[in-house]
Amino acid sequence: MRIAVPAETDATETRVAATPETVKKFIALGADVVVQKGAGATSGMPDADYAAAGATLADSTAATVADADIVLSVRRPDVATLAGVKQGALAIAIMDPYGQDAALKALADAGVSAFAMEFMPRITRAQVMDVLSSQANIAGYRAVIDGAAEYGRALPMMMTAAGTVPAANIFIMGVGVAGLQAIATARRLGGRVTATDVRPATKEQVESLGAKFLAVEDEEFLQAQTAGGYAKEMSKEYQAKQAALTASHIAKQDIVITTALIPGRPAPKLITADMVRSMRAGSVIIDLAVERGGNCEMAKPGEIVVTDNGVKIVGHLNVPGRLPATSSSLYARNLLSFIETMIDKEKSLAVKWDDELVKATLLTHDGAVVHPNFQPKA
Ligand code: NAI
Repeated sequence: MRIAVPAETDATETRVAATPETVKKFIALGADVVVQKGAGATSGMPDADYAAAGATLADSTAATVADADIVLSVRRPDVATLAGVKQGALAIAIMDPYGQDAALKALADAGVSAFAMEFMPRITRAQVMDVLSSQANIAGYRAVIDGAAEYGRALPMMMTAAGTVPAANIFIMGVGVAGLQAIATARRLGGRVTATDVRPATKEQVESLGAKFLAVEDEEFLQAQTAGGYAKEMSKEYQAKQAALTASHIAKQDIVITTALIPGRPAPKLITADMVRSMRAGSVIIDLAVERGGNCEMAKPGEIVVTDNGVKIVGHLNVPGRLPATSSSLYARNLLSFIETMIDKEKSLAVKWDDELVKATLLTHDGAVVHPNFQPKA
C-alpha cells in the first residue's frame, strides 16, 4: 500500500496533507509513503523531517503519485495531478465540490475514488476526522490574532503609572466551532467579549466561556436549530429584529469577528454599511465568512478595506492557512484517522464501501460521480 503526498498546486495553499508525525504512523500501519520535495516547506516541515520519518522524497508530482493507492492533499487534485494516478486509487482531500461539475467529472474520468473530507458526518466516531471543526477552530483563533494585530490599541485593560488603558470590546457573531474558539481566545487576551447566534444552544456555551450573550430570543430563535445542529436561514422579520438589536451594540465595538454560516446558503448579511459607518475610527471587522459571500456587506475577499470613517474590514482568504503548521498537523491527523478505518489486520488497504463514513464522503467511484448530492435532477 503506497500513500502519496504531492505538493499543493494552488499557490495560495500553505498547508500540507501529511506531517512527519503522520508519515511515521502510516508506515507503522504498513504503508510506503512518498512525499513530493518541498510539500511541507510552507508549513515549516522540511524534506529532511519527512525523510527522517521514513518517507521517500520524489522530485515531481508525477513521480510522487505514480503507483500510489492513496493520494492525500489539502485541496482537490487538479487534472495534471490526476493524469499520473492509477485507476482505482483513492484521492482524499477537502474537495469543495459544489458548483464544480467539471472538476467532479475529471475526478470520475481519472478513475479515482475521490473522498470529500468536509462531508464527514458529525457523529461521535468521526469527530477525530472532522476537518471542518479542526480548521474552523484554527480560523477562529487566528481571526482574533489578526484582529489584535490590525487594531491600534491594546486588548486587555492595563493599569499603568501613565494611566489606565480600557479593555477592548470584542463582539463575536456566529458561535459555531470558529466562534467558540474566537470567544475563548479573545477572553484570554483580555478583551470584553460579547457574542450572538441564532441557535439557542449557544447561549449557555457563550456564558460558560465567560462572555455575554446577546440575541433576539423569540419563538423563531427557539426553533432555529436543525436536527443536525446547524442554523436555519432566519425569516426576514427575524433578521430585521436581529439587525435592530445588534446595530447599537456594533457601534460600541472595537473588534467584531463574524463567523455566521448556514449550510448550503450564502452567508447571512449581519453588518450593513450603515453599521460600519457607526463604528469609530480604528475599529476592526474580521469577516471569516468572506469566502461564502461575507457577513459584512462591505467585506472584499482577500482584501483589507479601510472605510472613509477609518474602520478596517479584513477579508483574508484561507484563514486556517495563515497558521499552516498547526492547521496542517490537525488536518493530517484527521486524514490518518479516516485512513485507519480502511486498513485491515493484514495491513492491507480494505475500504469498507458500505461504512457510513465512506458513503457520506465518496464523490466518485468506478468512473462515475456517485455521491447523492451530485446526481442529475430527475
Ligand atoms: P457553521 O460554520 O455552519 O456556522 C457558524 C455559526 O453561525 C453557527 O453557530 C450558526 O448557528 C451561526 N449563524 C447562522 N446564521 C446566523 C445569524 N443570522 N446570526 C448569528 N449567527 C448565525 O457552524 P459549525 O461551526 O460547523 O457548527 C455547527 C454546529 O455543529 C454547532 O452546534 C457545533 O457545536 C456542532 N458540531 C458538532 C460536531 C459533532 O461531532 N457532533 C462537530 C463540530 C460541530
